[in-house]
Amino acid sequence: MAGKRLKVGILFGGRSAEHEVSVVSAQAVMAALDADRFQTVPIGVTRQGTWLTPADSERALTSIRLEKFSALEEPLGEGILHRTKALGALRRLDAVFPLIHGTNGEDGTLQGFLELAGVPYVGAGVAASALGMDKALQKTIFRQHGFPMPEDVVVLASRWRDDPAAVSREVEAAIPYPSFVKPANSGSSIGTSKARSREDLDEALEEAFRYDRKALVEVAVEGRQVEVAVLGNDEPEASPPGEITFEGEFYDYRAKYDDPSTQLHIPADIPPQAAEEARAMALAAYKAIDCAGLARVDFFFTPQEHLILNEVNTIPGFTPMSMYPKLWEHAGLPYRDLITRLIELALERHEEKRRCV
Ligand SMILES: Nc1ncnc2c1ncn2[C@@H]1O[C@H](COP(=O)(O)OP(=O)(O)O)[C@@H](O)[C@H]1O
Ligand SMILES: [Mg+2]
Repeated sequence: MAGKRLKVGILFGGRSAEHEVSVVSAQAVMAALDADRFQTVPIGVTRQGTWLTPADSERALTSIRLEKFSALEEPLGEGILHRTKALGALRRLDAVFPLIHGTNGEDGTLQGFLELAGVPYVGAGVAASALGMDKALQKTIFRQHGFPMPEDVVVLASRWRDDPAAVSREVEAAIPYPSFVKPANSGSSIGTSKARSREDLDEALEEAFRYDRKALVEVAVEGRQVEVAVLGNDEPEASPPGEITFEGEFYDYRAKYDDPSTQLHIPADIPPQAAEEARAMALAAYKAIDCAGLARVDFFFTPQEHLILNEVNTIPGFTPMSMYPKLWEHAGLPYRDLITRLIELALERHEEKRRCV
């Protein structure tokens, strides 16, 4: 690696509700990246899904002030990186750091495109990304491993449309109120609501189906929200847990991105034994869906001091103020070194895959 700087593509923006967060993450990663070893090539994706050329992406990033949440503007004719050219552009890179959350970023589709381009990329592969995104499939696998999780039922939009009364009855028979209703594939708490009655349930399902054809109805868990950062490929490491506190009934979109009373506590103030258990379960969950690179594993910690597994996020918030980098910083790995490590892990994994015929 000595001498030659590696060209690292930073893919950011995208169609999800976390578009602006992704822009901030990209700016921060580009500013922090070790310039002696890496050269960055930004590739922005607008809210409409249009890919921008590196030159236009660079321009867009410099015109957006750090920390001020802004979206990328849709280009007018010029500045568009067409998909056929995108494949060629990706092939010229030594590695890619996908920082796009949600649909077409975190769900395996982008990872598939990067596989086709044959370029090493940071984070989970196609299958782990898809499983990380789909809460229903993820839970099927986690259940096989015996992780404690809230009971749930999965509802398809087509069945709901056919016979809503029957579906509500079935859901009520399986899941007592209060319950949580959420789209299987979503994030940032978009489309998620708490239901206390049949009326709430029906409304919540309608809302969830705006975002996905599949919804989960889960038993509501009472507990503090504890999160663990995992880093590595086949032999991952887990950070000590952190905790998030917020005002309001649950950790909704506003609490996540637009509420100054939301706070991160690092490390989480939980008994040492529970912290160890959270780390062990985070590693086991990570391995269960065959993650690579990084993931944040989220739990509920109940008043009875039990840990309940909530979900795995394969592209967690990555601004310097986000839980994932903060947890590693606290564990002795600063932001810049964390990014370097993630790129090295991407190269290692790519190399390992290349060895197979
Ligand atoms: N079963 C549940 N019990 C209690 N709170 C829940 C439950 N499911 C979701 N929540 C609340 O909703 C938030 C978002 O749900 P989550 O499943 O983490 O989806 P997302 O991918 O949108 O983060 C959680 O952080 C939590 O505050
Ligand atoms: Mg979550």
